[in-house]
Amino acid sequence: MSNAYTFVSRRQFCAGACQVASCATLATLISGCGGDSPTSPDRPTTLPTLSGQFSGSMVKVTTTGTALDNVGGAALVQSVAGVFLISKTTATTFTAIDAVCTHEGCTVNGATDTEYVCPCHGSRYDRSGHVTHGPAQANLRQYAASFADGVVTINL
Ligand code: FES
Repeated sequence: MSNAYTFVSRRQFCAGACQVASCATLATLISGCGGDSPTSPDRPTTLPTLSGQFSGSMVKVTTTGTALDNVGGAALVQSVAGVFLISKTTATTFTAIDAVCTHEGCTVNGATDTEYVCPCHGSRYDRSGHVTHGPAQANLRQYAASFADGVVTINL
């Protein structure tokens, strides 16, 4: 029967320990350089929420003083007619899409600079509601939107 223990010299032990420490340090440095940083433009943030006023077949949203003041701004709009994602695409144009994820129905409430992100399973949609990353397969419904006097009108 052989002895299961292998004797390691102090020098061998120290050399092995240094290799493990070096690998751990390198892994930390590499992860710090990756796109997973908290300020990465690909990391979603939670959208601000605005109230929409439902009337007839329209939802009206006041944009003055909100995230929709600036081009590129986006917000989640809640109303009795449903939840919508609105983004300002130019000084006078907006996109308005349904905020109910086509995968399993979660409210899409996250966004990067260019995409909306579902918090449940990570589906992503562009600002027009097209799927850019699954598991969702179907696009979000887009609505016609108009803008006048600081108010976006979503036509349902
Ligand atoms: S419900 Fe949105 S990704 Fe699953």
